[in-house]
This record gives sequence, C-alpha cells and structure tokens, in this order.
Amino acid sequence: MFKIVSIPGDGIGPEVVASAIRVINTLARQHGLEITIEEHLFGGASYDVHGEMLTQETLEACRKCDAVLLGAVGGPKWENLPHEKKPEAALLGIRKELGLFANFRPAKVYDALVNASSLKPEILAGTDFMVIRELTGGIYFGEPRGYDDTRGWNTMVYEHYEVERIARLAFDAAMKRKKQLVSIDKANVLESSQFWRNIVHEVHKDFPEVELIDMYVDNAAMQIVRDPKQFDVIVTKNLFGDILSDISGMITGSLGMLPSASIGSSHALYEPIHGSAPDIAGQNKANPIATIASAAMMFEHSFCMKNVADEIYSAIEKTLASGFRTADIANPEDTIVSTTEMTDAIVANLEAS
Ligand code: NAD
Ligand code: IPM
Ligand code: MN
Repeated sequence: MFKIVSIPGDGIGPEVVASAIRVINTLARQHGLEITIEEHLFGGASYDVHGEMLTQETLEACRKCDAVLLGAVGGPKWENLPHEKKPEAALLGIRKELGLFANFRPAKVYDALVNASSLKPEILAGTDFMVIRELTGGIYFGEPRGYDDTRGWNTMVYEHYEVERIARLAFDAAMKRKKQLVSIDKANVLESSQFWRNIVHEVHKDFPEVELIDMYVDNAAMQIVRDPKQFDVIVTKNLFGDILSDISGMITGSLGMLPSASIGSSHALYEPIHGSAPDIAGQNKANPIATIASAAMMFEHSFCMKNVADEIYSAIEKTLASGFRTADIANPEDTIVSTTEMTDAIVANLEAS
C-alpha cells in the first residue's frame, strides 16, 4: 500500500498532475496495487484560500506519505508579493523541510522527437544524460540575503557535508551508468566553486573507476548545445543546475518533456522541471509528459518498481511514435493534440500492453 500526496499548485500544475494521476490509477488497477492519492493545496492556490503558500497541514501530509507529486507553482497573480511570501519561496521551503538535497533531471531524447527540437536531429539522436542538481544549498539558501534601495545581495555558500553527499550520490549514479561524471562549477572565479571542486576530487578517490571531468559552467552551457551526447552524468550546484536543466529540457524537444525526482534521506518529491506556464494555463494545451514521466520516476525510486516505470516510458514512446504531439513538440505539419488527448493516448497504450 502506497500513499501519494499530490500538490497540483498553480497554472498548468493541476492539468498535468491530473494526467499523471490517471496514469498512476491505470497502473494501480492493472497491477493490483493499493495506492491512495490525497490532494493538498500548495503555492498560490493555497495562498488564495489560507493566506499561506505552504500550510503546516500540507507540510505534515508531505512528511507522512511515501511520495509527493507536485505540479508547479507561481504566476503573475502572486509575483508582486514580498519575496519571502512568493510561491517560489514556498517551493524552496518544502524542499528544505523535507531534506530533498538531490534533484535528478534525466535528459533523454525519444527517437520520435529528434525533429521536435530547435537543434539538428543528428546532434540529438541518442542523447541520454542525467543532471544531478544540488537542491537545498548554495545561493538559493545562503545568508545574508536581501535588498534595500541601494544594494541587493545573496550569498553563495556550501558546507563540506553538502558537497560531499551530492558528490557521492553522483559518483554512485555514474557507476550505474557509463562511469563518466562531469562536475560543473565556476572555480576560475568563485571560491565556493573551488571548494566544491576540491571536495568532488576527494570523493573521486573512492570511485576510481569513474572518469571525472571538471567543466566551467559557461563552457558547459555551450557544450550541452554543441554535443549533448558527450555527457553521461552531470553534477552541479543549485543555481547552475537550474539553468542547465532548462537547456537540457530543450534538447529533449521541450521543457514539457523533462521530469525530475527530488530525493533526501527520508522523503521524495516528483515534479516536472517546468513552471506553471501562465501563458497556456487553463487551455488544455500543456504537455503532460514531464509529469507523467515524473510519476515513472516515483514508481522506480519510491516504490522500487522499475518494471512499472518502464511500462510508462514505453507507453510514452509508443504514443509519440504514433504521432501524438502537443503544441510544444509539434512541427508545422503535425496535428496538435490537447493535454487530455495526449493523456488518453498514453493511458490507452498502457491498457493495450
Ligand atoms: P515556465 O516553465 O512556466 O514556462 C516557460 C515556457 O515553457 C512557457 O512558454 C511555457 O508555456 C512553456 N512550457 C512550460 N511547461 C510546458 C508544458 N508542460 N507544456 C508546454 N509548454 C510548456 O517558466 P516561466 O514562464 O519562466 O515561469 C512561470 C512561473 O512558473 C513563474 O512564476 C515561475 O517562478 C514558476 N516556476 C515554477 C516552477 C516549479 O514550480 N517547479 C519551475 C519553474 C518556474
Ligand atoms: C525549478 C524552478 C524553481 C528553482 C523555482 C520556481 C524556485 O525554476 O524547479 O527549476 O529555481 O528551483
Ligand atoms: Mn527552473
């Protein structure tokens, strides 16, 4: 028996979470799994009801369940609130409170989508790398932070244990893949990056089979676009991981394709990497695949059911191969389907298998 807490959030969050829940319920029925899904308010949706972006009730529910499924938060309605009251601050709060220090963002190009990206198909075909983003430290959380009329400031700081634990996890991940790890930093300019690099090299001594490559973040941004196939596992700081994973999203055809798993020592949360997409919210246009694939990551990591995760990936693959395209991954000659039509097709492929 598994208990999932879903926090759909704002904008397209509820639309894409509804899609993932249909997929989860289909699989639960097929495999005779007892999965309960409890929905809670989060972000602007919570603020509008309770005056708080993250209530104790939602946080407690997230603490008590086996896995959290998150849509997205934020939007123009709440963007002028004081900084610490913004939905995005609540997202950082939930990550910190649940201790979700490692964020896995897999960038895999589906064969059917090699023509969907703005990059050339021959550059993309076969791309399959994992961005491991440190998620509870660095400049996102460093103190002091603030602004007044004359200055604005943030602090990029890492503790030794924070770098060591993410580095260990990244080397472990590389051992299970092609044994190559690219650590991305800005050690030529930032002391906190030199510190990061030193620790990654210390940890490397315990993983001699893994090839370790240091890369500056500016070069890395260019290399991901120039030749994404050169990467296997990437490990990087919070801010760099945020930026590089959006670039990686576009490599896969659209931000709407990239799932993620945020993992800590006792909790896990699954969410697409994209935001609430206010420009298309409420129009049944959003690509639900990033969220559906996030549910696949949930089956694999939280429920230890890789077989079920693989069923989801292959249903996505079949659906794309048979030509289903939401607007974000469509070429001019394609017929565009809605969020619900894409979900119907994925569910139908699951039911047919
Ligand atoms: P965004 O990711 O919401 O959207 C960027 C662009 O990608 C938009 O054109 C959008 O339509 C498109 N897009 C995103 N997801 C899509 C999907 N599933 N299908 C089709 N198209 C998709 O980023 P933004 O516009 O910079 O931010 C909007 C709001 O979302 C902001 O408030 C931001 O802070 C928030 N945000 C939240 C999260 C999160 O909750 N994890 C992540 C990123 C941004
Ligand atoms: C993401 C988002 C968040 C981040 C924001 C909304 C706080 O961009 O999950 O990638 O920067 O981590
Ligand atoms: Mn982001």
